[in-house]
Amino acid sequence: MKVKYLSILVTIIITSLGLPCFSQSISYLKPQAPLLNTIKHNRDDAGKQYEFMAGKLAPGQFPRSYNPVTDKFIASNSGWWCSGFYAGTLLNLYELGHDEALLAEASRSMDSLAKEQYNTHTHDLGFMMYCSFGNAYRLNPKPEYKQILVNSAKSLSTRFNPKVGCIKSWDSKPSDFLVIIDNMMNLELLFWATKETGDSSFYKIAITHANTTMKNHYRADYSSYHVVNYNAQTGEVLQRKTAQGYADESAWARGQVWGLYGFTVMYRETKDKKYLDQAQHIAEFILNHPNLPVDKIPFWDFNAPNIPGALRDASAGAIMASALLELCRYADKKDAITYFNTAQTIIKTLSSPEYKAAPGANGGFILKHSVGHLPQKSEVDVPLTYADYYFVEAMARYKQFSAK
Ligand code: GLY
Repeated sequence: MKVKYLSILVTIIITSLGLPCFSQSISYLKPQAPLLNTIKHNRDDAGKQYEFMAGKLAPGQFPRSYNPVTDKFIASNSGWWCSGFYAGTLLNLYELGHDEALLAEASRSMDSLAKEQYNTHTHDLGFMMYCSFGNAYRLNPKPEYKQILVNSAKSLSTRFNPKVGCIKSWDSKPSDFLVIIDNMMNLELLFWATKETGDSSFYKIAITHANTTMKNHYRADYSSYHVVNYNAQTGEVLQRKTAQGYADESAWARGQVWGLYGFTVMYRETKDKKYLDQAQHIAEFILNHPNLPVDKIPFWDFNAPNIPGALRDASAGAIMASALLELCRYADKKDAITYFNTAQTIIKTLSSPEYKAAPGANGGFILKHSVGHLPQKSEVDVPLTYADYYFVEAMARYKQFSAK
């Protein structure tokens, strides 16, 4: 037991020396000059798109999607799981181009978002608060941002059940304890909280959740189920199923890339090799899948019935690119080059007119063609705020490989 806590403490000390340093280049991973140039254009276009989008938002509203058929802009309130992506995208665009108007709009949006720090009815506080206030604190470590993030981590932790070993995802019947693979993305906030406060309870919740997920969400081929339902009293697995995928036994594309990203973060934050192995196994499943198109933008589900006629999910492509641009830093040379080249292909594909909207179109969103919840016929083949967020993050990560 003592050894376990000592190792946690050592990891905390090591990782608290700074946020992951992505600014170093790796000699064999060389960004292409024309793609860097495209990224510069994308950044300028995206800045203009987001300024256009800002004009559509009433106070207290957050961009969610846009219906290209009816030309209807769709906004949400601050409680929607995507409410932090707008500020996060603005902040990352600001970092890429230093346009003060983007920074001011991010700050305005975060003023309406801050109250969610006390929301204990969602597992999505990592998405909502870390993508917004986490980026804001990274760029400008103000004490008020820190307090909001610590309170958010505390709210998220209230959903952890030690019997199950997981944070509860969705509230439903009292007999259910539903955990979705997406929840891996909320753990980064907890690692941050332990580094900032020295309270290891956040860290312990994050690794327990990840270990339980690794054990129960994954199939032998390293594809993942979307939803696992547990007995909250015993921790026994009651059901493995889907909500947003094609079928219980299918591989819903965004779920696969949430896991890829999540276990890559787990390795960054703990340096425990089992998480690196898990992330690389997931990458292997995705990259070797016969249904992954050559342009690397996944169909919305790897087992969708009408492939190759099925819809693509740009958001899954963007999340995958960003995850691979981190994973390539931890992998050996051969795998690293594969991950880097795949991410490069995704950024190129998403930068093409097929996916990237013309300025002034698409409700101000950067990317077209994402799939939110196809079984519910909701957000099908539309722009989505998180596709934009992870596309901008991927471009920023790619650019860092050119840093001296
Ligand atoms: N539940 C988050 C997603 O749709 O990926």
